[in-house]
Amino acid sequence: MTRASWRTRIGFILAAVGSAVGIGNVWRFPWLTAENGGAAFLLLYLLFVVLVGVPGLLGEFVIGRRARSDPIGAFAKLGGRNWRPMGGIALLASVVVLSFYSVVGGWVLRYLLGSATGAYFDAPQQFFAAIDYGLGAVGFHIVFLLLTAAVVYAGVDRGIELATTVMVPGIIVLLVGLAAWAGSLPNAAGGYSFYLSVDWGYLQANFVDVAAAAAGQALFTLSVGAGVMLTYASYLDEDRSLAADGTIIAGLNTLVGLLAGLVIFPVLFSLGVPPGQGGPGALFISLAGAFADLPYSRVIGVTFFGVVTLAALSSAISLFEVPVAYLVDEWGVSRPWATAGVGTLFLATGSIAALSQSLFTLLADTVANLALTVGLLGVLLFDGWVLGRVALAEYESGAGRLARALGRPWLYAIAVVLPVFLAFTGLSSVTTTLG
Ligand code: PHE
Ligand code: NA
Repeated sequence: MTRASWRTRIGFILAAVGSAVGIGNVWRFPWLTAENGGAAFLLLYLLFVVLVGVPGLLGEFVIGRRARSDPIGAFAKLGGRNWRPMGGIALLASVVVLSFYSVVGGWVLRYLLGSATGAYFDAPQQFFAAIDYGLGAVGFHIVFLLLTAAVVYAGVDRGIELATTVMVPGIIVLLVGLAAWAGSLPNAAGGYSFYLSVDWGYLQANFVDVAAAAAGQALFTLSVGAGVMLTYASYLDEDRSLAADGTIIAGLNTLVGLLAGLVIFPVLFSLGVPPGQGGPGALFISLAGAFADLPYSRVIGVTFFGVVTLAALSSAISLFEVPVAYLVDEWGVSRPWATAGVGTLFLATGSIAALSQSLFTLLADTVANLALTVGLLGVLLFDGWVLGRVALAEYESGAGRLARALGRPWLYAIAVVLPVFLAFTGLSSVTTTLG
């Protein structure tokens, strides 16, 4: 059987954007921006997306397209059997991330439903408390997982490509509409200035923490470290400029994050709900509460949580595809059976995370960060020190003049500068969660 591949270039780009754009953009990004000194964080984040995120993304693309194989197979094919564990870490990271991501996806589905029925309009606080962990959360996690599995089951081009080609433009159009509506609310300007003003003093006083948060977000948001982008690039069957594609992907991803902030903060400010304190869960609750107080609650609520659902699904699909690709490529399992097997695995791991708050937090806060950081480190060191010239040649294949000129600096950056940087921010984020 011939290996699966994307039908079009834009299909690959939209699938990758779908992976990148997720709960991280609509949820974590605006919230981190608010907590870390507003536009000061935004500036650092943009800097890290360009200097760390995109080079890392290209590091995965190069391995995937060269090997045309799942992460474990790719490392073995290009570097020898001894490198298999490095691909194994990326695979493990995809399992860790989807295990809690699917639980959050379930929460979002529940809010989508609650927006349609008006179930949370009277008491948003209790609505969330009643669903966060427990059997209800397990049930919605399972529904979310089934939706994810259905797309992966249908295949790379007829499932993932087709679905994300519809979902990603949908996300952008709906968010633009919501942002325009939010701008018409009273006191929207207060939200903008909170979101977009630079607090230099804050940045100076908390530089290391802000930098670590911005670096972590720059990697998480581009879906690097879990073998997702490696796997997606392995389905490319033509050599086009990876650098150009990576830049478009990162640009669209940032645009969605910015748009989400332009929705969330005007809404919160117009209702006098102070954002920032109490973490991302609290933002969830106050936003739902705000929708309940506004005219057209149902339409607004369904649109907003519809966007979040689409964003979460298109990311979950990409994470689900990594172990499926492994079973298909390494063990010759058929896609339907691989989907069933991987689905069963996530049914179990996600349900445990949905039942236990402490396990959920451990996965979401510590293990995921660590696994993604180590996963990406493996990719970078492999590109820089094992593949070397081969990685550069793969990068250059299909690249334009500007991208070619940046090839050597790119290889140097991922071989030396980025690993040091990752070790530093990875360590400081581990010490922050432990301390
Ligand atoms: N990029 C996704 C988001 O921002 C999360 C993700 C991380 C997806 C790693 C795949 C791999 O929500
Ligand atoms: Na997504």
